[in-house]
Amino acid sequence: MAEIKPKILMVSAEVNPLAKVGGLADVVQSLSSALKSKGYEVSIIMPKYGFIKKESNRLKKVKGGLKIKVGEKKEKVTIWQTSIKFSGVDVYLLENQKHFGKSKIYWGNESERFLFFSHAVLEILPFIGYKPDIIHCHDFHTALIPDLLRVTPDFYYKNIKSLYTIHNLNYQGKSDIGVLSTGNLSKTSLRSLSQDARDGDINFIVQGIINADAVNTVSPTYAHEITTPEFGMGLDKVIKKNKNKIQGILNGIDTDYFNPATDNNIVANYTSRNIIKKKENKLALQKELGLTRDKDVPLVGFISRLIKQKGLELLGEDIKKLDCQFVILGTGQKKYEKQIKKWSQQDLKRISAQLKFDASLAQRIYAGVDIYLLPSLFEPCGLGQMIAMRYGAVPVVRATGGLKDTVDKKVGFSFNKISETALQRKLQQALNIYRQKPSQWKRLQKNGMNRDFSWQKSAQDYIDLYYEL
Ligand code: GLC
Repeated sequence: MAEIKPKILMVSAEVNPLAKVGGLADVVQSLSSALKSKGYEVSIIMPKYGFIKKESNRLKKVKGGLKIKVGEKKEKVTIWQTSIKFSGVDVYLLENQKHFGKSKIYWGNESERFLFFSHAVLEILPFIGYKPDIIHCHDFHTALIPDLLRVTPDFYYKNIKSLYTIHNLNYQGKSDIGVLSTGNLSKTSLRSLSQDARDGDINFIVQGIINADAVNTVSPTYAHEITTPEFGMGLDKVIKKNKNKIQGILNGIDTDYFNPATDNNIVANYTSRNIIKKKENKLALQKELGLTRDKDVPLVGFISRLIKQKGLELLGEDIKKLDCQFVILGTGQKKYEKQIKKWSQQDLKRISAQLKFDASLAQRIYAGVDIYLLPSLFEPCGLGQMIAMRYGAVPVVRATGGLKDTVDKKVGFSFNKISETALQRKLQQALNIYRQKPSQWKRLQKNGMNRDFSWQKSAQDYIDLYYEL
């Protein structure tokens, strides 16, 4: 008998390019596209935030004037539809003024806003005419969908299974019990809720872990790390208890989009066979950023949200003494932005601070820099190091989570200790090889460029997991 392929529904707070803060958005987009190219039916539902413009995103109205019951009240919802460029994956956007009308993704009571979203997602399924076999939930925002599926008496949802992917354990959706009413739930709806409520609050991630049919996180090392108190962020006990249903599946990147051979954001295209052309991108980047133009001076890039997780505390004053140039691209916590801006102002020709979100500049930086730095304290997967390697930039990273799973001695440098000195020593070692052993450097670049970071394997791992549900 022919195997029936499961129909997948992705539910996420972020989807690239419609709404993005971090890697979650990229993964939902690129994994969905990879599944579709393997012949699977997949759709995505996300909130329609105020900044998502109807015209420029070609939104078509699917249904207006829907009323979603929340307790005694009713919330008005409109459903829009568009599709992801190139892959053509359908994206449904759920509009509700109260929770998602603002031009921001994260604000206010996020547990309440996203529980409403999760509840509404299930309610609108019959109206969009897409009945999935599996709902694939991402991060704490949608982690209560498995609870909702277990609670509903409606036959329509009876055979729908759920997979819950943890991209980041840091944001847990810890809230007071009252929040449950937004999803028409209460602490007596499920045993897991009454247990969770005993300490006075509800933790969305805990609910996802207990009630989803399967759980995964985004790299094998991180899946293991989070069973320990050091990385478990207070949840290591629950995670350990459920460890048999939690696996690690490494993220991929969109290797068609991130391709130095065809990328039209960069001045000179190249492959692993003519890496020398990367220098042209470096010179162009130095010019664009106002750095001293010099093809031989090593250029180090840091492209990331500027948050503690990414190891910004390890970038001490001394790092400026290293004989290289720096470019930092990203936005985040004000204290880091201020510090980086100050450094740059002290040495404009050598340190460039690009405190903004600019996807096209990011690609020019990957293509232009020699070294990509990511000294994260913890890193569920990390995408930047894979993009960097694809562009022949050699990564210098802390050996944790997905960084440990993707960067080895053949392609880059890693250090263990959380300390400024450990980072500086490693970076210095990389700089020495860059300057003194060019052929060894070239080998590192080539190895990185030739590694397969596509979704080929990981999308198949997800498919295997879907079949197990
Ligand atoms: C989160 C994690 C990052 C991961 C991304 C996509 O942003 O911090 O490590 O790569 O999600 O899964």
